[in-house]
Amino acid sequence: MKILAIESSCDETGVAVVEDGRKILSNEVLSQIEIHARYGGVVPEIASRAHTEAITPLTRAALEKAGAALSDIDAIAVTAKPGLIGALLVGLSFAKGLSYSTGIPLVGVNHMRGHIAAGYLGNRDLEPPFTAFVLSGGHTSVIRVNDYTDFTVLGCTRDDAAGEAFDKVARVLSIDYPGGREMDALASKGDPSAYDFPSPIVRTSPFDFSFSGIKTAVINRLHNDAQKGVAFSREDVAASFTASVVRALCDRMTNVIDSGADKLLLCGGVAANTHVRAALAGLCESRGVRLYLTPSELCGDNGAMIGSQGYYEYLAGNISDISLNSEAQSEI
Ligand code: KG4
Ligand code: ZN
Repeated sequence: MKILAIESSCDETGVAVVEDGRKILSNEVLSQIEIHARYGGVVPEIASRAHTEAITPLTRAALEKAGAALSDIDAIAVTAKPGLIGALLVGLSFAKGLSYSTGIPLVGVNHMRGHIAAGYLGNRDLEPPFTAFVLSGGHTSVIRVNDYTDFTVLGCTRDDAAGEAFDKVARVLSIDYPGGREMDALASKGDPSAYDFPSPIVRTSPFDFSFSGIKTAVINRLHNDAQKGVAFSREDVAASFTASVVRALCDRMTNVIDSGADKLLLCGGVAANTHVRAALAGLCESRGVRLYLTPSELCGDNGAMIGSQGYYEYLAGNISDISLNSEAQSEI
């Protein structure tokens, strides 16, 4: 079964063709990073406009690369929620129009479910039940995946998402938005014990995070040092910040393992971080549990992950009609 999948929830337009939920036939992604970088963050109106320009040529390219015509497509999956509402509506309206005019069934997909499904694309043997750490620019959640379309949220961030924290600290270090990837490289050259930043966890809740304090701690420390005329090393700040995030993730993952979980998945944009991947893989190995890593190139937003989840939604009978609407905020 071939699914044409469309993702436009933030600043990446993604169109893919995915077969039987697990095989990527094409995965076209157009990032708007350069357009938004000069503003220090995503400008929603500009994002919507860029999606509108990209979506038709990307759909043509995705079909062509998959060697498929529209008549070969069995369902159209589209991200319906959550995300920037104007950006979501571009993909959704396009998908609805295409579905209506061709008669191909429409499947609305939750973006966070899509990030989890990215794990299926790189790990043939990954099947529910398992526990997912969804670490993205908009969300940081610990989610029990009971079945392909049945989820229980165990914990989440109380304030900023992990990716947001990376981007905000990157900004303090004069790195263009989104700074996560550059922070990763910078941290590799620094001393992770140079600064003692707090770990972003909620002590009273075993699966929750809180990232806003660490960002403030970094800013305060650098201001204090500047006032005293003490120079700072960008590499050491990046490495120490990353070490704090990694400590928090290890702490929360230890709690998840202690609660009986033996199959874990890392997904979402921050799951591409090399330090996070190495530390959590080490932890899981030492505890004898299986950690599945989403392939780095599928951690960020893309159409293929929506195509994978769309397949399982279709099998579960979750077909949408023309009244399908977008939602900026949504549970999984
Ligand atoms: O999942 P994603 O593509 O979009 C959302 O759904 O939010 O995540 C984007 C986030 C950004 O904050 C970006 O800086 C971060 O993922 N990111 C990284 C890395 N690559 C992307 N953060 C840390 N290390 C990386 N290597
Ligand atoms: Zn995302």
